[in-house]
Amino acid sequence: MQQEIVLRISNLHTNFYTNMRCNKVLKGVSLEVERGKTLCIVGESGCGKSVTAASVMRLLPDLARIESGEIVLYDEGREIHIEALDKYGKSMSDLRGSKIAMIFQDPMSALNPVYSIGFQIIEMIKRHTKISASIAKEKAVSLLREMGISSPETRIKDFPHQFSGGMRQRAMIAMAMSCEPKLLIADEPTTALDVTVQAQIFSLMEKLKKEHGTAVMMITHDMGVVAEMADDVVVMYMGYIVERGSVQQVLKNSTHPYTVGLMRSIPMIGKGKKQKLQPIRGCTADPYDTSPGCPFVTRCDFSIQLCHECIPEESTVSGNHKVRCHNPIQKGAVDART
Ligand SMILES: Nc1ncnc2c1ncn2[C@@H]1O[C@H](COP(=O)(O)OP(=O)(O)O)[C@@H](O)[C@H]1O
Ligand SMILES: [Mg+2]
Repeated sequence: MQQEIVLRISNLHTNFYTNMRCNKVLKGVSLEVERGKTLCIVGESGCGKSVTAASVMRLLPDLARIESGEIVLYDEGREIHIEALDKYGKSMSDLRGSKIAMIFQDPMSALNPVYSIGFQIIEMIKRHTKISASIAKEKAVSLLREMGISSPETRIKDFPHQFSGGMRQRAMIAMAMSCEPKLLIADEPTTALDVTVQAQIFSLMEKLKKEHGTAVMMITHDMGVVAEMADDVVVMYMGYIVERGSVQQVLKNSTHPYTVGLMRSIPMIGKGKKQKLQPIRGCTADPYDTSPGCPFVTRCDFSIQLCHECIPEESTVSGNHKVRCHNPIQKGAVDART
């Protein structure tokens, strides 16, 4: 399939203004999501994954602001500059749900407890299309069926609390997919679910991606999910993208010490009980810390003097494989999986 970029984020800076202080949360995020492909954003809690998603959806709280950078959605030859839209305006609310949809870790945060599941999906379809109520209802039933919900004709009348956690997540995906969005953003969609349901949700998302050509931006803190789902990967650390590329490049040929650390800290199937898991030592630095060096330097086993002096620029490893490190690990020097 020919490469077709759906979303391009360039040098995005997003700040939070709390207690009269400025917290620079995104410090120049650049990434691309392609049609029919899944881009996984991975990194520890607090590194800025959800803020990246909220910047794209323009759902940041009022204390946050996009300072600079571009967020461009490519839609049938049009370039929509999301960062320039009014976040409360009609253009932005028309985009949400129709061109870009989002699913969250907690489906209850997106489903309204006082309306039936069917009502909510039908309202969503009616909001963004001109079809009649009865056709919208048929569409809602067929969507729920497509999501693997049995007897959707009767289940459509159920309220969210009558669905199990996995079913609620499916209903939320049905709602998200109802207007055939170009881009689906999933923020830790399976973190609250058990592994068997997680596997079902993933295979469902995989199917939707293939059949509808949806571009998926999947946020996770779990390298296992990345290995399973990603076509492309972005590794974030404290508001920076420290490594990005195809899943092959980033996981098999990790060059940033942080990516290597993440890979070493997950168990691998097939390696048995003897495998040694190594947590990354230390913890993330204070976001207000103003020391000039690389933010990972205090936890890094490969740091050199330069790492204490300035933040590295992004450099190319090969092709689209990029790293932000003064002393990247050379191919074959360390096996990330031992
Ligand atoms: N509502 C908020 N108020 C103040 N600061 C916030 C808020 N949400 C996020 N932040 C800041 O943004 C950083 C990144 O948050 P987030 O993107 O939610 O992390 P994660 O990668 O776990 O999704 C946090 O560490 C915090 O400093
Ligand atoms: Mg988050």
